[in-house]
Amino acid sequence: MFDPVETLKEFVRFPSVSTDPKQGEGMRGARELIAGLLRETGFEVEEIATPLHPIVVGRRDGDPSWPHVVIYGHYDVQPADPYDLWTTPPFEPREREGRLYGRGAADNKGPLITHLSAVARLLRERPDLPLRLTFLIEGEEEIGSPSFAPFLEKHRDLFEADFVFLSDTGSPNPEQIVITTGLRGITCLEIEAVGPRFDLHSGVHGGAILNPIQALAEICASLHDADGRVNVPGFYDDVCPVADWEREELAKLGVSEVEYARFLGVDRFHAESGFSPFEGVRFRPTLEFNGIGGGYQGEGSKTVIPSRAFAKISCRLVADQDWERIQRTVIDTVERRCPPGIKLNVKTSHSGPPYRVVPPGRPDTPSDQSPALAAAFAAAHEGVARSFGRPPLYLREGGSVPIIGDIKRVTGLDSLMIGLFLPEDNLHAPDESFHLGVMKKGIEVSRSVLLGVADAGGR
Ligand code: BES
Ligand code: ZN
Repeated sequence: MFDPVETLKEFVRFPSVSTDPKQGEGMRGARELIAGLLRETGFEVEEIATPLHPIVVGRRDGDPSWPHVVIYGHYDVQPADPYDLWTTPPFEPREREGRLYGRGAADNKGPLITHLSAVARLLRERPDLPLRLTFLIEGEEEIGSPSFAPFLEKHRDLFEADFVFLSDTGSPNPEQIVITTGLRGITCLEIEAVGPRFDLHSGVHGGAILNPIQALAEICASLHDADGRVNVPGFYDDVCPVADWEREELAKLGVSEVEYARFLGVDRFHAESGFSPFEGVRFRPTLEFNGIGGGYQGEGSKTVIPSRAFAKISCRLVADQDWERIQRTVIDTVERRCPPGIKLNVKTSHSGPPYRVVPPGRPDTPSDQSPALAAAFAAAHEGVARSFGRPPLYLREGGSVPIIGDIKRVTGLDSLMIGLFLPEDNLHAPDESFHLGVMKKGIEVSRSVLLGVADAGGR
């Protein structure tokens, strides 16, 4: 039986950076490690090729009357730079003060090993467990899962299941676990404002033409109003209202605005008018600038009118918003606001739908919710209460795992998401780490969920 912490260390050693074409070896190593663990646990394993990074599929088939759970995870990680800000090198895992440090330790290698470890232990104790399981571990989540949507359409049979189970979301602290009931969708675009043919002398030509940086800045500045709302016509049209039970859960979060501001290092918040910063993250859509550039960036000054300027933008979307419609509306808006004399080029990238699931027993729980999903939520509730000493909160998340909404759209399957990241885990940042106490208890919770579903029986 593999040791979860030692296995996680081995896993973190592979630099599986999906966006970096030079890390093919790291991607392959990470994939083979997962495939090997699944085989060792008795799964039938296949690596399904995609145009980019293969998807690892592990199956434990069984009687068709048994419940069937799909466990999702990703073996790819974000780039590790800037390297010099890491205390110890990102792909040399180190244990310090109950945490394992390394790129991907939390997102998503630790949580993935948590579930795999729970399954391996459970099947060793109960080799005849009446449960069908399919692991689907992809290598492109951090670049927007471009291969997963076509894979979904092509392998519908793998999704003839009761629900999807995963941990790729967060909780506020190691005592208070969140069962994630929503993910934001996303759509990313880059706009480029193009002026003169080449960079110009700002004395010789300044006063004659519109500067592309100025044009771009004015377009960008027009995209929010003074109340912190996104100033794009129709942006909020389809936003799902917040249910009373969701506000009640958020009220139990137990983090004060002062603590949150201190954690972020800011002295005030700027949430959409009428919403607290916590509500802004969990319930509302946004439009953010992720990068901006153009003109001279070197030391000192250089007197030019640049030929072009760019801005990278992402919109986070909430339940019921359609990313394709929002993408079109934002593009139409920036094009309409582009002043004469400037040409605008727009490129789109990572996009995917939001997702929301209502747990059993709420006023808005769908009447046709699958009994296996309801059993899984109940087992997760009990399991979290037992292992962490406090029942979970049910909250939507600010981050995105766009494929979860795609799975719902294409196959109708809902997801049970147990948040195992903590705010101190530094996802996507230097000194990423995973809390090993959370991992240990997470293994117990994952085991309780799978056992609960198996015991509740098939459809
Ligand atoms: N695991 C994260 C998403 C996440 C982070 C959820 C923190 C909850 C809390 C995931 O791997 C991720 O980073 N997703 C990207 C998606 C994008 C690349 C399309 C994101 O949210 O930026
Ligand atoms: Zn992730």
